[in-house]
Amino acid sequence: MNDRLATRKAPVIAVDGPSGVGKGDVSQFLAATLGWRIMDSGALYRILAHKALASKVSTDDVPRLCALASDMEVNFTIEGDALQVIYEGMDIGDAIRREEVGVAASQLAVWPEVRLRVVRAQRRQRRAPGLVADGRDMGTEVFPDAELKLFLDASVEARARRRFEQLKALGFSVSLDSLLQSISQRDEQDRTRKHSPLVAAQDAIVIDTTRMARESVREQVLAIVQEKVQEKALDKQGQNAWSASAL
Ligand code: DC
Repeated sequence: MNDRLATRKAPVIAVDGPSGVGKGDVSQFLAATLGWRIMDSGALYRILAHKALASKVSTDDVPRLCALASDMEVNFTIEGDALQVIYEGMDIGDAIRREEVGVAASQLAVWPEVRLRVVRAQRRQRRAPGLVADGRDMGTEVFPDAELKLFLDASVEARARRRFEQLKALGFSVSLDSLLQSISQRDEQDRTRKHSPLVAAQDAIVIDTTRMARESVREQVLAIVQEKVQEKALDKQGQNAWSASAL
C-alpha cells in the first residue's frame, strides 16, 4: 500500500525519549487505556538485526540488509504487563532483547537506506483505531503529523537507578556504575547520530520524569491525552475525532 495513504488513516500518539526513560510503560498504559494499537519501534531494528545475525549478514552490508528489511510484518500485543512481539507467527520478544541483538541493531540503524525500509514497515503499523508509537524518532521522522507528541526525559542517574531496581527485582546482579556507563554511551550514540538523531520534535510536549514516580507520569500523560480527546471531539468536521470511548 502507498505509505502516504496509510499514514493518513489513523491517529498516532508518538512517545519518544532516550533509553530507559519509561516510554514502554507509558506506551503500554496509553494503548491499553485507549484500546489502540502499540508499536515498539526499536523492535523492528532488533528483528532486522536478529535476521542479519541468523543469516550471517554483516551490519555493514547495506544491500543485503535492505533486502532483509523489505518485507517485515510485525504484530504487537499486550499480554498482562508484557508486550509480545509476533514475527512470522512466533513471539520473538525474548530473542530480540539479547545484548548482541541490541548492539547489532544500533549498528545497522545508522544506514539511511536501511532506516527507510524499517520506517516503511513502522508506518504500516498505523491502523485503526489508532497507534501509540514508542521510539526515538516517531514524532520527528516517522509520524511528523502525529496528533500528539510526547517526549519523556530524565537524568542519566535516574534512568540508571530505575533499570538497576528493575533488574534487581528480576534477580539479576548488576552494578549501578556499569548501567550508568552503558546508558550514557547509548545516549551519546543516539543523540549524535547523523540520520534521525534523538531529539524532541518542536511540537512535542516534554515531560521531565527525573523526580516523578511511575504513577505520576501515567497520570500526567493521561491528563494530556484527555485534553486532546476533548479537543478532537470538538472538531466540527468530525474527521479527526478519536475513538477513545474508554476515557
Ligand atoms: O529501543 P531499543 O533499544 O529496542 O532500540 C534498538 C536500536 O534500534 C537502538 O539502538 C537504535 C535503533 N532505533 C532507532 O534507530 N530508532 C528508533 N525509533 C528505535 C530504535
